[in-house]
Amino acid sequence: MTRILGIETSCDETAAAVVEDGRTILSNVIASQVDIHARYGGVFPEVASRAHVEAIVPIVTRAMQEAHVGWEDLDAIAVTRGPGLAGSLLVGVNMAKGLALAQGLPLIGINHLEAHIYSLWLVQGAPEVRFPVLCLIVSGGHTELVLMTDHGQYQRLGATIDDAAGEAFDKVARLLRLGYPGGPAIEQAAQWGNPKAFHFPRARTEGEYDFSFSGLKTAVLREVQKYGQPDTSAPGALAATARPANPPRPSDLPVADLAASFQAAVVDMLVEKTIAAAEAYNVTEIFLAGGVSANKALRQAMTQAAGRPVRYPPLILCTDNAAMVAACGYFRFQAGQRDGWDLDVIPSLKLTST
Ligand code: KG4
Ligand code: ZN
Repeated sequence: MTRILGIETSCDETAAAVVEDGRTILSNVIASQVDIHARYGGVFPEVASRAHVEAIVPIVTRAMQEAHVGWEDLDAIAVTRGPGLAGSLLVGVNMAKGLALAQGLPLIGINHLEAHIYSLWLVQGAPEVRFPVLCLIVSGGHTELVLMTDHGQYQRLGATIDDAAGEAFDKVARLLRLGYPGGPAIEQAAQWGNPKAFHFPRARTEGEYDFSFSGLKTAVLREVQKYGQPDTSAPGALAATARPANPPRPSDLPVADLAASFQAAVVDMLVEKTIAAAEAYNVTEIFLAGGVSANKALRQAMTQAAGRPVRYPPLILCTDNAAMVAACGYFRFQAGQRDGWDLDVIPSLKLTST
């Protein structure tokens, strides 16, 4: 039996988890900073690192307690080294190094995108994975279509050329004054809306399997502008601006219809390219991972169109967590990965084969 402690601090969740044999979660503790960042309408990097520093020790302690394990029961410590915010990643990596050194445990640096993929190994009762599978990673920072031919073997087929899918949800939610994070808020508002009320553009890209969401966001902005004074700086980034996130919303703004039509456009684009790639590469299954894979409209549309099984994680494992880092760490550990004390953070780390 192999037990790995996973640590995740790449963005705005401080998380620690203990996972057995890459599949069984013994504990999964997450401290979200959503309440802090909601005030700014996005993640504020300096505030994020400080919150990680405050949360990391209690979170790791709780993960160990809830798993009912001691340090002697662990085989390794896995930690996200990138991609993510440099200051935030550093908190996790330093914690992991300190613990590994003090407890005499191997240290394993993990790619956050690969960890999202391994959240699928934590789905209870799911059949054994038969490669090749196609992974659509859709999160706040990334939108990538990756062919996985074996453990640790990836071919990147496409990615977003501008905003990530989750980022588009967050920015449009801001335009519609729905708060942060935008994905769940848009999904909820969309329930009451007509997805055909507005016909938003489905972007064409040069790369066959690339995505683009910024035109769609601008199209929503144009509609919003027809109803009064929009927060025109909103499409600007998740920048560290201390602007209030929720100025008043024009009372006649058709929020539900805009949310539903926007969501339908995002889902259409994601499904169309993913299915095309699944057919071209003749994959056995499609895996959805990352925060946006929590979206029910996306899950349903993908499942309907796929013509093959579609797997997605339970909600708690869609957004950032450390169980997926520990699961990924298990397969890396099995493959012999051991990192040295010089393990550094790589904020723009790419997903590549090993
Ligand atoms: O994977 P994640 O927790 O963090 C990153 O690695 O970026 O993803 C967060 C993103 C946010 O942009 C959030 O708005 C989006 O996932 N998200 C959703 C939903 N839940 C979270 N997007 C659409 N529908 C949802 N239900
Ligand atoms: Zn993530």
